[in-house]
Amino acid sequence: MSRGFSTDKLLHGGDYNPEQWLDKPEILRQDLEYFKKAGINTVTLGVFSWTTLEPEEGKYQFRWMEDIVEELYVNGISTILATPSGARPKWMADQYPEVLRVDGERCRALFGGRHNHCYTSPVYREKVKRINTELVKHLGHHPGVILWHISNEYGGECHCPLCQEQFRQWLKEKYGTIGRLNDCWYTKFWSHTYQNFEQVESPSPIGEHELHGLNLDWKRFVTDRTVDFLRFEVQAIREAGSEKPVTANFMYDFLGLNYRKFKEDLDIVCWDNYPAWHKKPEFLTALDSGFQHDFMRSIQGRPFLLMESAPSATNWQPVSKLRRPGMMALASLQAVAHGSDSVLYFQLRQSRGASEKFHGAVIDHYGGDDTRVFQEVSKLGQTLEGLREIVGATMKKEAAILCDTESRWAMKDAKGPRNEGLPYKDVLLGLYGAVRSFGVQTDVIDMEASLDGYKLVVAPMLYLFRCDIQKKLADFVKQGGTLVMTFWSGVVDEYDRCYLGPAPGGLTDVLGLRFSEIDGLYENERNQLIPVSHSHSENEARGEGGQKQQGKLQCSMFRRSYSCHSLCELVHITTARPLMVYGEDFYAGEPAVTCNSYGLGKAYYLCTAAELDFYKDLMSEIIPNLFPDRPVLSVPDGLEVTVREKEGKRYLFLQNFNRKPVDVKVAWDYETCLCGEYPVDEEGTGTVKMFDTVVLRG
Ligand code: GLA
Ligand code: ZN
Repeated sequence: MSRGFSTDKLLHGGDYNPEQWLDKPEILRQDLEYFKKAGINTVTLGVFSWTTLEPEEGKYQFRWMEDIVEELYVNGISTILATPSGARPKWMADQYPEVLRVDGERCRALFGGRHNHCYTSPVYREKVKRINTELVKHLGHHPGVILWHISNEYGGECHCPLCQEQFRQWLKEKYGTIGRLNDCWYTKFWSHTYQNFEQVESPSPIGEHELHGLNLDWKRFVTDRTVDFLRFEVQAIREAGSEKPVTANFMYDFLGLNYRKFKEDLDIVCWDNYPAWHKKPEFLTALDSGFQHDFMRSIQGRPFLLMESAPSATNWQPVSKLRRPGMMALASLQAVAHGSDSVLYFQLRQSRGASEKFHGAVIDHYGGDDTRVFQEVSKLGQTLEGLREIVGATMKKEAAILCDTESRWAMKDAKGPRNEGLPYKDVLLGLYGAVRSFGVQTDVIDMEASLDGYKLVVAPMLYLFRCDIQKKLADFVKQGGTLVMTFWSGVVDEYDRCYLGPAPGGLTDVLGLRFSEIDGLYENERNQLIPVSHSHSENEARGEGGQKQQGKLQCSMFRRSYSCHSLCELVHITTARPLMVYGEDFYAGEPAVTCNSYGLGKAYYLCTAAELDFYKDLMSEIIPNLFPDRPVLSVPDGLEVTVREKEGKRYLFLQNFNRKPVDVKVAWDYETCLCGEYPVDEEGTGTVKMFDTVVLRG
């Protein structure tokens, strides 16, 4: 059960690998001085330190680590202590090959790399338990250690015989009988019926890989296995006597695991953010990372940690682009704006050899403090100190966007209307960006979450329905909520079987329509969204009649046409009003955007993927009524508006991702500016400089 993590400072620091420098004590001494100079108050130690801690099986050396933790502590620097299970020593792989992972083609890996061990192997678990126990014995009670960092970036899957056996057990528990499994997986198709659980194998490129129910359950199993492994690691720590909080670092938009399933087992969520800055206009990259921050915060609905970020360029992206001056601080403070209580880097000192020797670091090979990166890090250290009171501040529930990992797994796996170029992220970020462009706080949730407290729920391409989401959405709208749902939603059930009867399954009354056909458009094909008037009487606007209104009258809601792409769904409307119709093809004039009143609320349905301006214009009709008390009533393009709250105080972040200053007027009263520059004229309009972050307390 998650117990939370509390700190009285915004953590600033990052991954540190002193074991690479033990033969150069002068460097370690120098590092400490530099840390203090840069306002670094936290380091993450021990990620990948296993061979230095246990060079031979059962022979431990912890002295170096104890000395460093103590030295840091007396200098006011906390330690986040990692368990070393992210990469194992060679002696272990040689002596116990079962710890090595087996891939989908049933081929066992050789020693090398990292993040590549079997999560089931009893030997691996035993070795992990021992080293974790030793860690607790030596450092688990040290006052400098504030948090356990469990392993590193869990991921991947193992198809070894031990994992296969676990998978079959898992299936037996889930389905009870093989008949039920066959039914749910629809195995009559191509005569793939199983006679018993022993016949079931994990999906394989050289075997079964087209039973979608199997693929989906395998992914669920891999998540459960990984959570089970995490639990095992944490239990070892608890049994050895440490009650300190635990975290595990997550990755950007990682679909290998359903991260929401970790929420009960972590005391705080953290993640590693490496956007490719300056590849696209910065505000677009910021939208994407803002979304990820919101995703991570929403897992537990409370502050998270930015565990890793590059203080300069990374070295694993296709091009290692330097951050323009100010970008590192802007990106770091974006995490804080969205709920992070830390800015941590990978890494503090650049390694001298091997594959990450060119990865950006706070201290580089030159080794001085007179570098641009070091100066920027130091400046940010001061800024974070000035924002200390924000620690623990939360965010208000306003809008939610449904982004469900299991649904994404199923949608990707399906052979359907577009097997390449499914516009999921376009639609997801298009709608998310539209809501955010009004400065409305947006949680990113899945179907297991409650919808209570939200006024607006956006459900882009929610292909698979589970957890009774139909009912939750229907209740939400009935009670006055506004739902925006798109095409390709409610197509299959939780076993990936299509709904029989009208779709979106269980929501046709709420939406006032039903799915009929879906057209995949070729890459360069476009259709049009043409506004229709809804100033007609209700009756005329309804049903088939509604489709014939195209072009007759000026539309009161949309003033222009928009292009649409990728997928065009055709629907039969019952009670919904068409707001836009298709402009071209044999379905020209048929509904493309609709709105239905249901109970006290409204449900919009978007039948196609639209150009981005459309989403913004749609939200400009929805948001001002739902959220009249916004901090900024007119948000300039490229300015991000985010609010954290604590003890009756509101912290308003204005972040300028444009390459020019922008003018903005704040509607709320505020008492002081905690960060950045915000000079205001007589009318109350202020200017935010290029790449600046302004934090106003009110
Ligand atoms: C990941 C890992 C780190 C490091 C960085 C490099 O996030 O967790 O160990 O390899 O990438 O960007
Ligand atoms: Zn395995």
